[in-house]
Amino acid sequence: MFFRQNLTRRDALLVMVGASCVYLFLAAASYGLQTTPTLTVEGPLTQISLERERKIVTMLSTLTVTATTTETTTHLASPTPTLQSTLIDLGLEPDIPETSIVAHAPGWTLFRNLYMSNGTLFLLTSDSSLADFPEIRMMTSTGLEAQNTPENIAAREPTKENMDFISPADARARWGGDYTKGERNRVWTVEGNTLLFNDPPQFLNHYYHFVAELLLGTWAFIYGAFHPATGLMSSSSSPPSISAAFNQPSFNVQDNATYQPPPFTRAIFIHSDTHGWRDSPGFNAYFLRAVFPALTVEVQRDWEDRVMATVPDKSGDRSTLTADRAWHFPIALLTDRSAAHRGVVCGSQTQRTAAEAWHYMVDNGGVDRVGAWWGNIREAIWRFASATPIAQAPLKHASDGKFMDLQLADPGETVITYISRQSSRRRLIQEDHEGLVTALEELVNRKRQEGKHWELNIVQAERMTKDEQVRVMSKSTILLGVHGNGLTHLVLMQPTRVSAVVEIFFPGGFAHDYEWTSRALGMRHFSVWNDTYFTHPNEPRVDYPEGFQGISIPVYGPAVAKLVEDQLEHKLPS
Ligand SMILES: *[C@@H]1O[C@H](CO)[C@@H](O)[C@H](O)[C@H]1NC(C)=O
Ligand SMILES: *[C@@H]1O[C@H](CO)[C@@H](O)[C@H](O)[C@H]1NC(C)=O
Ligand SMILES: *[C@@H]1O[C@H](CO)[C@@H](O)[C@H](O)[C@H]1NC(C)=O
Repeated sequence: MFFRQNLTRRDALLVMVGASCVYLFLAAASYGLQTTPTLTVEGPLTQISLERERKIVTMLSTLTVTATTTETTTHLASPTPTLQSTLIDLGLEPDIPETSIVAHAPGWTLFRNLYMSNGTLFLLTSDSSLADFPEIRMMTSTGLEAQNTPENIAAREPTKENMDFISPADARARWGGDYTKGERNRVWTVEGNTLLFNDPPQFLNHYYHFVAELLLGTWAFIYGAFHPATGLMSSSSSPPSISAAFNQPSFNVQDNATYQPPPFTRAIFIHSDTHGWRDSPGFNAYFLRAVFPALTVEVQRDWEDRVMATVPDKSGDRSTLTADRAWHFPIALLTDRSAAHRGVVCGSQTQRTAAEAWHYMVDNGGVDRVGAWWGNIREAIWRFASATPIAQAPLKHASDGKFMDLQLADPGETVITYISRQSSRRRLIQEDHEGLVTALEELVNRKRQEGKHWELNIVQAERMTKDEQVRVMSKSTILLGVHGNGLTHLVLMQPTRVSAVVEIFFPGGFAHDYEWTSRALGMRHFSVWNDTYFTHPNEPRVDYPEGFQGISIPVYGPAVAKLVEDQLEHKLPS
């Protein structure tokens, strides 16, 4: 309504040009889609009316025009999401959409309509009881590095500067325009789906914590949250114009077998600079780019730009902005390590932040227990590294064919990979390393004499390219090594009925890092203390005794070879 009287012939032409661009964009975006987009923008100007329903905002360098098509073939409520509006513009909305929570576990919160102004994340709600919201401290923190001191624990408790609630009236007073005067709301949508990582570099710059905690937990959470079986996405209310989550080409819910969650548009490392999320071997960046090639990464400096853009600009004589703005995130997953540690599963059981995300989604039926949920990621990185994983039988469904009763198949071939750490600081007694290699070689030779295709790889990861590492790990049935970052590669393994990780600890030592992760991905894990092993649910208590980090870790090779053989031959009680 607002622009009708101002539309000149030149403007009208620009509308047409803009609409054509949108059409071409949609046509290009839909190329190769499995679902056919039903949104079309009709060409003739006469069909462009200025109604509110379906807005297409076309920004040209000289002009901004809000136009609406009369197309009505898509509805948010339709069971098959289809391509909908292109850009969300809240500039002229009388009601700024309220925040809702799609899914929440300690440290993991998926929001619809999250706002940020002056560095504070705002939850916009008219519900003054806040009954539908978790405690803020279970969602976020100040993002400081963690140390185990009472002062530091207190300093990580979030304040109202980190996250706060805001009522619709206050939001309108703060960010709303007077639209009787044609003013726009100062609320700017950050299109697409956003990952907000609130952690400092302390744990980000480490392959295990980045890939096997942060990305693994992120994927478990978004995979589960969007999975139709959980109903989480459909039960969280949303105004019809806010359909970004469904506005994604590869989001396909036609059947459970081909389900994928929608792609995420950007990751923002709120408290990390550009080096802070990179590890020294370079696996974090390799993994992130291989698996999410289109993901845009923003770091702290970019977040500061966004913060600065929301506050009145005091520089110059004539500031044009006298009130603040807000950014609007239609879909955002906020992760916070300190908040995850305030949860029971992470804080007292596993010390894994990802465990909060995974357990929540298992409980909601969005994530299976055999690692199928991680398949998209695994396969993406295999493709990137040109790995040719051993052909595996597909997952078997239990008799009623249900998603949650998937069962793993037997491996096509048997590959044992021992990651040697003999040139690293934490390592085996050299003789014991040699004894282990001999015992494994004897095992594999014996199996070959029996006519079986068993393969043994003894690898030093630091001497291999990343692609080579992925290729070896992707076909490994057993991954074996001393406790350490190299075992993070277990995330690349294809789970089968006998897949397992064998982790050698200094006797008396134990940590959940690879143990929990192996099981979350559908594989068994064995902790070895020299000639003895433990497995879930009888794993030892977490402990880091003297010698844990040392260069004299003992292991009795024949016992490990026997364990490996028994696991591969189904001789162990499950
Ligand atoms: C923005 O936040 C800072 C604290 O982080 C505060 O000192 C400042 O007053 C705020 N500015 C506005 C415009 O609200
Ligand atoms: C997908 O899985 C859920 C839960 O296992 C089931 O209820 C639903 O019927 C399945 N849908 C299809 C299309 O198979
Ligand atoms: C490891 O186990 C072997 C075989 O039982 C034993 O001979 C050896 O003394 C053990 N080593 C240590 C350090 O306990």
